[in-house]
Amino acid sequence: TPRVFSGIQPTGNLHLGNYLGALKRFADAQNKGIQSIYCMVDLHAITVWQDPADLARATRELCAGFIAAGIDPEKSILFNQSQVPEHTQLAWIFNCVARLGWMQRMTQFKDKAGKNAQNASLGLLAYPALMAADILVYHATHVPVGEDQKQHLELTRDIAIKFNHDYGVDFFPITEPVIEGAATRVMSFRDGTKKMSKSDPSDMSRINLTDDADAIAKKIRKAKTDPEPLPDSIEGLEDRPEARNLVNIYAALADLTPEQVIAEHAGQQFGAFKPALADLAVAKLAPISTEMSRLMQDQGEIDSILRRGADRAREIATPILQKTYDITGMIRS
Ligand code: TYM
Repeated sequence: TPRVFSGIQPTGNLHLGNYLGALKRFADAQNKGIQSIYCMVDLHAITVWQDPADLARATRELCAGFIAAGIDPEKSILFNQSQVPEHTQLAWIFNCVARLGWMQRMTQFKDKAGKNAQNASLGLLAYPALMAADILVYHATHVPVGEDQKQHLELTRDIAIKFNHDYGVDFFPITEPVIEGAATRVMSFRDGTKKMSKSDPSDMSRINLTDDADAIAKKIRKAKTDPEPLPDSIEGLEDRPEARNLVNIYAALADLTPEQVIAEHAGQQFGAFKPALADLAVAKLAPISTEMSRLMQDQGEIDSILRRGADRAREIATPILQKTYDITGMIRS
């Protein structure tokens, strides 16, 4: 039976890329009736420095974001990573399965470590082994993510394959990355060649899920574009990264394909297309921001949702970790 797992880092500034590449698709999986487990990966967040109070706040805000985006904590399992210690227990075993060279090749590590990699935390290097453990401690079969996580998911498969091979078992599943839809890589509003990111210093580069209707409309109005009207076929968007980005965002928000959006808006100037996109974005996103701030008023309720989610997650994770210990020769007495 299929089982979905995915995670998001609670590092603040949840944005449109996280929504279209991840949250919205999580809600879709849940609503198809697939068992779904969603995690706020607080332990991943501290691979780079996080102020403790900010981290706790961002974790609760992320939980509110999940719920506001349509994840029902009764149907899906919603929890923060550090409350399920089986993730880190399995991650240690995977640290011993994965090879140093695999980790050093990860582009996210190279980007985040920067020039002075000697100064990066050891956790930043080991990050993908913890991510593999997140997924495999539930024997998850499908992992919906944006395109930037593809390399990490290939590594997850490599770890499962090597573990199964080294121990001569057929235990961990070979997980399928699910990178689907029009908006698996939402780009910055300032530069269509850079992905929309929480860490971009320009707030105008992204729509935050906490932005109100005015801010959403303003950021779309001011988004960088070229002077040409929209083409009459999708091929006409090649070499027009900003135009393509806005068409993809429209398609994902409206549950259409980019082809359908182009068919409807062919020949339109951005002076007309941007207001249409702004109306659509406000209609879809403003209710999320309103619901997030409502949920954020009851911290006790959020914490108890995370607690209950963690208990349910552990019921699945504990037997899988125990079996892993048996396979590897760890005595449990
Ligand atoms: P994170 O927290 O950076 O991002 C969360 C999700 O949002 C997607 N995303 C985007 N999608 C489209 N366009 C964008 N501009 C954009 N920016 C971000 C990401 O692809 C991701 O799906 N390592 C993961 C968290 C993680 C995880 C896991 C994911 C930890 N364990 C296990 C899946 C399974 C990360 O840093 O995502």
